[in-house]
Amino acid sequence: NTMLSWQRTAFHFQPDKNWMNDPNGPVYYKEWYHFFYQYNPNDAVWGDIVWGHAVSRDMIHWLYLPIAMVPDQWYDANGVWTGSATILSDGQLVMLYTGSTNESVQVQNLAYPADPSDPLLLNWTKYDKNPVLSPPPGIHYRDFRDPTTAMLTSEGKWRISIGSKINKTGIALIYDTEDFKNFELKNGWLRAVQGTGMWECVDFYPVSSINDVGLDTSAYGDGVKHVVKVSLDDDRNDYYAIGSYDEKLASFLPDDVKNDVGIGLRYDYGNFYASKTFFDPSKQRRILWGWITEYDSECVDRTKGWASLQGIPRTVRLDRKTGSNLIQWPVEEVNSLRLRSSEFKDLKAKPGSVVPLQVETATQLDIVAEFEVDKEALETTLPESDTDYICESSGGASRRGALGPFGLLVLADAGLSEFTPLYFYVTKGLNGSLRTTFCSDQSRSSVATNVNKKVLGSVVPVFGGEKLSLRVLVDHSIVESFAQGGRTCVTSRVYPTRAIYGAAKLFVFNNATDATVTASIKVWQMNSAFIRPYHPETDT
Ligand code: FRU
Repeated sequence: NTMLSWQRTAFHFQPDKNWMNDPNGPVYYKEWYHFFYQYNPNDAVWGDIVWGHAVSRDMIHWLYLPIAMVPDQWYDANGVWTGSATILSDGQLVMLYTGSTNESVQVQNLAYPADPSDPLLLNWTKYDKNPVLSPPPGIHYRDFRDPTTAMLTSEGKWRISIGSKINKTGIALIYDTEDFKNFELKNGWLRAVQGTGMWECVDFYPVSSINDVGLDTSAYGDGVKHVVKVSLDDDRNDYYAIGSYDEKLASFLPDDVKNDVGIGLRYDYGNFYASKTFFDPSKQRRILWGWITEYDSECVDRTKGWASLQGIPRTVRLDRKTGSNLIQWPVEEVNSLRLRSSEFKDLKAKPGSVVPLQVETATQLDIVAEFEVDKEALETTLPESDTDYICESSGGASRRGALGPFGLLVLADAGLSEFTPLYFYVTKGLNGSLRTTFCSDQSRSSVATNVNKKVLGSVVPVFGGEKLSLRVLVDHSIVESFAQGGRTCVTSRVYPTRAIYGAAKLFVFNNATDATVTASIKVWQMNSAFIRPYHPETDT
């Protein structure tokens, strides 16, 4: 449908048509990045799930390969669901995935490359004695899915986790195995949090607390912290906690006791779900993939013939400055798409101003911006008792305060009938301390009515001496924002009808009542990535 074709993205991974959901089994194998995904080959809505497959040299340009696995066995007849890859000590690759059986029981299955010497891993063999795991006693047959990448124990066994729930308590089960065929259920759980419901797509991995290098999944010991991430089926968001993992007890203890009662922090305060990390040995980094859904209706998805994107893969590491959150940042390879740039230095945005930035078209952009709030305003602004600015409910970019909101308007038309503000909002508490929130306001992103118009975002830690910083990737219908170097991330899907193609513009705005804001901004036009089918004759 040409009317909606502008919504297709130019450098985000998506299949050529139909529905996609979770990232599956991401892995680096024989110099290729492999990416598998939950895919419906027949329709633009969820169903008939198979494993789509694509390969890349840089995680930006992709070759679609033939479908890797289809439901052709009783144990995955209702779908080849989410799973993870593990590279064994001898370099062998094994894949564990959830099958929904002919009776809709969730079981775990083993698959491996039919030809391990094939760098493209075109053919997959399912183990002939699958399933290797069925729901244990006490676990409902539909609450047992999404095995993690395995990590080694000190005994030399492989350990995986599988998400589930008991009543309303979300839990991560732990199994040890030597051969990926026979598994031993460990006592207790890796983690359990009351009231959180079913845990989908558990992810469990180490991060370094002494440097920024990514760690192999089995790393353990001094200078290593662990992260447990869960996707909450009930509220469709990904939450993580940082803490200590006791390998002997097979349990995880979050650092933040407050968050042991709660569920933790969100990877992204917008649209981001069912994510999964993997270790990239070629660049010693941990990469995070997340599924970005549509914010329009299923009916529109069927009209346009596709639904969902994958976010730009992000490197993920511990924020060693706060010690209490992760840092996420687009993989450096995305910079290779940067074309012409425009720079705006020390631009003064007065209270109540909207300043256009001359950047040609503004549908495919990489933006790096820094903002500084006028010092005098920071000092003279009166402290407030209620500093709990909340993106979702505090009135969006149109509610004016002394020290915010200010930031960018992306995917805006010249007449400002459509625009998406990405903004900081600073408040000053009674003790004089500042609190900064970062939000993405979708409320006026489109004149269309059947799309999500929420304001998304969260508080962002800012240290004294730091400027407020923002990185934004704009790609037609997706806006990914990384505030303060990636401490707080917000992904939006927006569906403008006027601010498209050459009519899309970029502005700086300052809706604060008291403070002038100084902005320095660099904007790159982004090239399109090639994402196309693999041709055996020419792609070698
Ligand atoms: C998460 C999820 C997984 C499941 C898969 C099915 O989005 O529901 O729990 O394995 O999708 O497509």
